[in-house]
Amino acid sequence: MTQVLLPIEIDKYAETYTTAESEALAQLNRETHLKVELPVMLSGKLQGALLYMISSMIQPRRVLEIGTYTGYSAIYLAKGMAADGHLHTIDINEELQDMCFRYFCKEGLENNITQHIGKAAEIIPNINEQFDLVFIDADKQNYHLYYDMVFDKVPVGGFILADNVLYNGEVVLPHTEQSKNAQAMHTYNEKIKADKRVEHVLLPVRDGIMLVKKIAN
Ligand SMILES: C[S@@+](CC[C@H](N)C(=O)[O-])C[C@H]1O[C@@H](n2cnc3c(N)ncnc32)[C@H](O)[C@@H]1O
Repeated sequence: MTQVLLPIEIDKYAETYTTAESEALAQLNRETHLKVELPVMLSGKLQGALLYMISSMIQPRRVLEIGTYTGYSAIYLAKGMAADGHLHTIDINEELQDMCFRYFCKEGLENNITQHIGKAAEIIPNINEQFDLVFIDADKQNYHLYYDMVFDKVPVGGFILADNVLYNGEVVLPHTEQSKNAQAMHTYNEKIKADKRVEHVLLPVRDGIMLVKKIAN
């Protein structure tokens, strides 16, 4: 799922010349790898630092993350918010909620982050906010649905980011050779390309991140 598409030594070099994780984030990264299933789902140092950089350039007041996992990307995104910023993050897995909260506290972000537990498609309509920045990083089959659900909650000038859009490079394979998730990612990329209301760039960082800027309603 979350593979590095770059040669490993290039990825390591890029990490070397990227601001290091805070102590708490390094600890969270380690604990996730030691104790939690599928640690490959964690964004990782390079992508985390990129998410922080994007967030700090936008300085969003409201952020929505779909797919919390152990809270690693939530922390990076939240650190870039405006001083009065607030991040809502959704995950279907309640087992990781306490671990996330522990690290939100270590970073002093417990009052800036609200965790929602349940299916994203059921929770999104009930969060009555406008979001300057949305990060989609949950079940791949539903990216298109999440995009449609959040679109009207993002003002013109706001951003919608989506992770894993290259799906380990599978998106370039013939359709019949792609996994279901890679097909879903390709469908998502096509949807963005066809949407005249947005500008977009597909960054081949880690597993591929689609950056979308809303330019019209
Ligand atoms: C790739 S992980 C998120 C990684 C995290 N954003 C990070 O970078 O550290 C995907 C998460 O989506 C959650 N998820 C899967 N299906 C979901 C759904 N229907 N609604 C909400 N969360 C879901 C999973 O439980 C998992 O924790």
